[in-house]
Formats: sequence, structure tokens, C-alpha cells
Amino acid sequence: MASWQRTHTCGELTPDHADQEVTLNGWIENNRHHGSLLFIDIRDRYGVTQLVFDEEIKGTPSGLLELAGKLGAEDVISVTGRVARRDEDKVNPKRSTGGIEVYASQLTVLQEADTPPFEVLDNPEAGEELRMRYRYLDLRRRPMLEAMEKRAAFVTAVRNYLAENQFIDVETPILTRSTPEGARDYLVPSRVNPGKFFALPQSPQIFKQLMMVAGADRYYQIARCFRDEDLRADRQPEFTQIDMEMSFVEEEDVLQMVEGMMVKAFESAFGAKLPQPFVRLDYQEAMNRYGSDKPDLRFGMELIDICELAAKSDFKVFSGAIENDGMVKGLLVAGQADKFSRKAIDALTAYVSEYGARGLAWGKVGDEGITGPIGRFYAGEAGEELLAAMGAARGDLMLFVADRPSVVLRALGELRVKLGTDLGLRTPGDFRFAWVTNFPLFLYNEEHGRYDSSHHPFTAPVDWDLSDYSQNTESIRSRAYDLVMNGWELGSGSIRIHRREVQERVFSFLGVDEAEQQAKFGFLLEAFRYGAPPHGGIALGVDRLVALALGCESIREVIAFPKTASATDLLCDAPSEVAPEQLADLHILTHNPKPGSQT
Ligand code: AMO
Ligand code: AMP
Repeated sequence: MASWQRTHTCGELTPDHADQEVTLNGWIENNRHHGSLLFIDIRDRYGVTQLVFDEEIKGTPSGLLELAGKLGAEDVISVTGRVARRDEDKVNPKRSTGGIEVYASQLTVLQEADTPPFEVLDNPEAGEELRMRYRYLDLRRRPMLEAMEKRAAFVTAVRNYLAENQFIDVETPILTRSTPEGARDYLVPSRVNPGKFFALPQSPQIFKQLMMVAGADRYYQIARCFRDEDLRADRQPEFTQIDMEMSFVEEEDVLQMVEGMMVKAFESAFGAKLPQPFVRLDYQEAMNRYGSDKPDLRFGMELIDICELAAKSDFKVFSGAIENDGMVKGLLVAGQADKFSRKAIDALTAYVSEYGARGLAWGKVGDEGITGPIGRFYAGEAGEELLAAMGAARGDLMLFVADRPSVVLRALGELRVKLGTDLGLRTPGDFRFAWVTNFPLFLYNEEHGRYDSSHHPFTAPVDWDLSDYSQNTESIRSRAYDLVMNGWELGSGSIRIHRREVQERVFSFLGVDEAEQQAKFGFLLEAFRYGAPPHGGIALGVDRLVALALGCESIREVIAFPKTASATDLLCDAPSEVAPEQLADLHILTHNPKPGSQT
């Protein structure tokens, strides 16, 4: 061992080590002069230790204090010294090493650092752009390294659980062909096959199904997926899934397996005990009660149906909506009427309008009955009926949206979540998992005027024998299930179609004609000819799971090197232009290759 190498980490020394000679390696967190004394905090992944440079101490080489005094933040040093117990009144209970300090007798500067662009503090003062540009400094912050440790612990626990349950970890190709998961593909041009492209996988969906045809029985992969889609706090262009598939199973088998995995992994990585069994919600029930297929169950404030009362109301907004096959639902903000000024309610109205609502009708319950825009329509008996339906009492605020069902549910669902945040209705550290089941097989895509798979086209319908999907399309149920927690979708899966004719029928209904089926999925349809077992599986988003477990606002906080909202990597400046020769090799001509240049 070289003389500078550490004997201990910066997080490990306690009064039990008193009087031992130790060597520590790490980064300088800060230094403080006190006359002829100098204190330096030295940091590594494991913690921070206080070093004391004091030339008065017998045996301290002269010049040591001077050398140490020249050091600055983030210099990398090695220090040898003697562990000293701190006086009772000097103990720092916030640090694992708070009971000791190290009296330095030797100092080696391993590497000097330039002044960093921002201070490496637990709570960063730097903006996110700067943090991304210097991500290695950002990651040096304790909360970031801790997030990486916890993420690794979570994945390790998942791997252990799956290995114990006979799952085999199989790597599937990254250079592949398009998988339909609803996003755009990232394409990779082929040099040896001019004009042809690989697609990066949006998920390993087809390969894992082929592994079932192969007889693997239980497959998993901690799989990187790539999707070129609009990014948000819970979406990245490349992200990680716990991807699983099982043969000869029904929904219950998959749900139980995943539930067991979550309980074990949350306990082992985050010390959280999840209540079991997870709540089960029918899709339609989730939509009706929470206006969302990924409900946040940490608070109540469910959507209340007042269609019956609305139908006979003098308030045209309500009765008109019912006459036009719409619905009217409300939210009860209990005891908070006083907190909402007209201006505050206008802001809520503007908020729901973002989700298509044409207004937000409201009423406050006071001593003289209901006040607000709906007041005059709800005096007397009608008012009593409304209060009863809403379960409202004096001091409550009632908010209503009347519209097409899709608009009412979405707008009130989003408003519910906003009110949950604004009114602080959630308890930190509360993990409310739920399974949402019984999804529709197809959802109408209003933008494109057609039906899409609500999950993906490999999801089995509840009724194998149904041959005409164009009849009562929206009432056809699928065998899909989602795992949701605290308002986020964490995972999605389904029992799959393993019968060729059913798969062809679904493709045809989705507008994929026979030629396209052959071109895109011929290999899967062919595989189904050679003995496909009934199978099903799921994929869980690792980034989302870890972010939620650690209480992060964005999944970027738990990804070592994430991309910005505009899908760029600020650290290595990717994507970047490439040399003309590279493009020529790939048989690619770019249109407008340089931003701002004219073609
Ligand atoms: P799905 O597309 O629902 O299903 O994805 C499964 C889970 O992956 C996570 N996820 C993402 N995380 C971060 N950024 C993204 N852009 C992103 N997109 C998805 C979510 C989501 O719930 N093949 C199917 C699974 C199956 O049927 O087995 C699939 O990929 O947590
Ligand atoms: P108006 O009759 O347009 O003046 O609206 C009276 C009240 O009804 C206002 O508070 C509007 O915000 C509200 N309102 C209008 N349209 C709707 C709707 N579709 N759903 C709920 N409230 C609405």
C-alpha cells in the first residue's frame, strides 16, 4: 500500500479509534482558520471528517500549516494523523464522525482543483443547467451519491428476488427494429446496408415474448429503453425498466409476483414497509372516482357524480351537458370556503380550462345556503338535495365541471391533484401503491380520428373469441394492468395474445394491413405458429420508482447522466454534428445540418 493510501474512509472514525494513527483520502469541503489553528473538513462518499492542523502539537512538522493553508475547496488530499476524541461540548451529532477529529501530521496534495463553478453543497445553489453541465460535481454532492446508492440497492434487491424466483436475466438487442410503444423511434443508420436503419428499442416487448416461445418460462432484464417523445419530469428519452415475462400464467400470478418484489425491494433499499395487499381498482372506477387511471390515493376528495340532480336543474350549463350525453361532477373542498377568494377560484377556472373545461361552476356553503354562480339555481329544496349529494356543510366549497365525460374526468382529476398539492393534503413518505385493472382494449384517438391500443397491440382481450372489434369498441376490456403509486404510473403489463389469428385480428382493427403486419411483425406471427405458451408480463420504470421512493420531483435526480427537457446532454454536448466523411459512410445526406444555415 502506498504511503498516501487511506486506512479508513471519511465516514468511519468514532471515539473507539481514539489515539490510532490513520490516513484519510478525499476532497476538501471547506477550511477555517482560527489563529494558529486550521480546520479542514475532508469528504468522500462515506462522510466528512474534521482535520486539525496545529503546529503547537509536539511532533508536527514545520511548514505543514502553511502548506495546508494554501489548499482550497475540492482539492484532493491525503492526510495522516492521530484520532482524537472531541470534548463533550464540541461533539457534532449531525455527523457520523462528529465524536472525533484527526490531528494531522502529514499532508499530500494528490490533485489541486480549480475553483468549481458552484459549491458542492447538499442543497445546491446552482441552477439545473449548470448542474447538468458539470454533472460530476453535482454527483459529488451527498444527496446525489446517496440516490445512486439507493438506486443500486433497489436494483440489487430486485435482481435477488427475481433470481430466487427462477427468472433468467436475458440481454436483448439494442440495435433492432421498431417496437410499437407509442413514441417515435431513435434510428441508427446502417453502414453496410445502405439506406437501412436500426431502431433502438422502445422496450424489449417482442423479444421477451419470443423468449416465452423459446421456453425460457421466466425472463427479466434491467432494460434500457429509448423513446423519442416530449419530455416531462417523469420522462426521459432513455430510461430503465425492470422488464419481466412469465409463461403459463394468468393476471393474478404476475400481480402477486410483482407485489412480492416491490415489498422486498422497498424494504431492503428504502426501509419502507409497504401495506399489503395493494389496493385494486377497476379502470372505470379509478376514472369515476379520481378522474385518472393513475390515482393519487394519499388523500380523498373524490369526484362526486351529480348527473341525476343536474338533469333536472334550471342551471342550463348543467342540464344542457346531460342533454348532450355529457356528465356533471363535483369536488368538495371541505371547510376551506373562506380560503378561496373569487380571484383564487378564477385561477382554478383557468387551470381546468387547460384540460378542456369550458368553465368551473362553484358554490360556497354559508349560513344562508349556497352562494356563488350556482347559488340562484340551488336555493331551497334543490340546494338541500345538492348539499346532500355532495356531503357538503357550512364552510365548504363545491366545484363542478359539466361537459363530455372525457373532459369532466380529466379536468376534475387534474384539479383534484392540484388542490391536493395547494392544500397540503399529502403526508410525506406515504407510499400508496395500487393496481389498476380492466382497461379498455382500445382508446379513441381524437387527434387522429382512430382507435389505438390502450396498452400495446400485444395485449390480450378478455374474450379470445370476439371477432368483431368494431362493435361496442369502447366496452371491450383488455387483460392489461398498471401499477400506480402516488399519482404516477410505475408499471404496465398484460396477459399477451399468443394466438396468431387473434393477433392478426387486432392488428387489422388498428389499421395495420396484412402486408404491413408481415413486414413489421411477420417474425412474431411466425413464431406463434411453432407453439406459443400463454404468457404475460410487465415492465416497471426504475427511474420513476426510485424518484418517488426518495421524494424527488423529477426522475433526473436519480439518473446519473440525464438529458435536458430538450433531449440534449449538456455534459458531453450530445447530440452533436458529425464529420462529413462519417455521413458519407452511412449514405446519409442531411438537410440543414447546421442550425441557422440556409439550404
Ligand atoms: P410502458 O410503455 O407502459 O410498457 O412502460 C412501462 C413503464 O416504463 C416507464 N416509462 C418511462 N420512464 C421514464 N421515461 C420514459 N420516457 C418512460 N416511458 C415509460 C413507466 C412505465 O410504466 N412493453 C411494455 C410493458 C409490458 O407490457 O410488459 C411497456 O414498455 O414507469
Ligand atoms: P356562464 O353562464 O357562462 O356565465 O357561467 C356561469 C358559471 O358556470 C361560471 O362560473 C362558469 O365558470 C361556469 N361554467 C360555464 N361552463 C361550464 C361548464 N361546462 N362546466 C362547469 N361550469 C361551467
